Amino acid sequence: MKVSVIGTGYVGLVAAAAFAEHGNDVVCADIDEAKIAGLDQGVIPIYEPGLEPLVKRNMASGRLRFTTSNPEAAAHAEVVFLAVGTPSGGTDGAPKLDYLFQAARDIAPHLNGFTVIVNKSTVPVGTAERVSRIISEQNPDADFTVASNPEFLKEGVAVQDFMHPDRVIIGTDDERARDRLNRLYKPFFRTSERLLYMNPRSAELTKYAANAYLAARISFINDVANLCDAVGADVEEVRRGMGSDARIGNKFLFPGLGYGGSCFPKDTRAMIRTAREHGISMSIVAAADRINEAQKLVLVRKVRGHFGGELSGKTLALWGLAFKPNTDDIREAPALTIVRSLASDGVKLRLCDPEAGPNFMVALGDTAENFPIELCSDPYAAADGVDALILCTEWRQYRSPDFRRLAGLMSDKVLFDGRNQWDRDHVESLGFSYSGIGR
Ligand code: UDX
Repeated sequence: MKVSVIGTGYVGLVAAAAFAEHGNDVVCADIDEAKIAGLDQGVIPIYEPGLEPLVKRNMASGRLRFTTSNPEAAAHAEVVFLAVGTPSGGTDGAPKLDYLFQAARDIAPHLNGFTVIVNKSTVPVGTAERVSRIISEQNPDADFTVASNPEFLKEGVAVQDFMHPDRVIIGTDDERARDRLNRLYKPFFRTSERLLYMNPRSAELTKYAANAYLAARISFINDVANLCDAVGADVEEVRRGMGSDARIGNKFLFPGLGYGGSCFPKDTRAMIRTAREHGISMSIVAAADRINEAQKLVLVRKVRGHFGGELSGKTLALWGLAFKPNTDDIREAPALTIVRSLASDGVKLRLCDPEAGPNFMVALGDTAENFPIELCSDPYAAADGVDALILCTEWRQYRSPDFRRLAGLMSDKVLFDGRNQWDRDHVESLGFSYSGIGR
């Protein structure tokens, strides 16, 4: 099938490469000329495991090509996916839909025969209808329909998730769109029961409901962790005990420093806003958001407590800056809040991350210039001579470090484990002081 994807972010680029891998003829467009020039040379703009070989293989086979022209992408395709960014830009948590609407205006005059336009970006309920109106206004003769097909891939495992989805949600009332998207997605499954059809509004809302539910689950276990700290229980034991109830399940129940990333914070706020517009208060979702903001500072409080509130002149190492492992994405990363807060307490910071260091320093902005913050490429070099080490993001290479070596390097043997990755008995036997989250 002839497919176009507008947008080369995590969702667009992965979708384009994956559709090409399934034998479709795919054009992927982005208005960012530098990005497209890079992609034409095989430079992948994001760090995402498995994406580079997938893109290169499909470019080499001629099934995947890139353009800066949205009109060209429109003229090429039977199905056009809109996968541009919808960042929190408006007031009060409203996602910014300017890029999406501009893409719709760009493609409208160039649609070629009956075209299925698919909103893949996460967008508020009713956006499929708004895109549809924009296209009709621009091109009253266009033969098209707008469907909603939210994406559930996780960064860091995006290729795997896209290729092997738990389900694909397709929101459309149009038979022809249904047939076309069925043909496109069926090869991803052995059987078609995981292709779920519904109306566009339900599809749009499903994405928000799923993300808000997952966010609430994380805030719930973080709340439990804080209670564990207060009453002397171990949240890792409680989590295992809870999670072994089949109704609860043991996935996605890990306490930590709060969720970050491009989706949970933005989508929870957007959902609360949509609900408010309809006179409904999503109290659980609002609490999840509030708890999450507070959770980002839990470790800072523990650090202050340990050093008796006097942090000025201390040097701390911090491992892991990305909002989660296997990505260089630092959007809403807890490390940003933690670093800003410790820096303003007068702490000297030595930071380390396998991929996200440069993005992180840019995001810190003024803080990076005005405070003593150093980016180190080696985690042991970062820990050399420090008063404490913080684990912020649980990259594989930080999960079982050489603690004997660390004991020899650090000037004070103090560990703050923001992801409950380290074995307390082991590190205490080596003379470290250990604090985790809720244990
Ligand atoms: C999420 C959704 O999982 C995905 O379906 C949606 O399409 C986009 O948003 P992503 O943002 O890539 O994906 O990350 P995810 O792996 O879900 O993690 C989100 C955040 O929650 C991370 O900061 C992670 O560290 C945190 N998290 C996750 C926890 O703190 N505990 C957990 O048990 C799981």
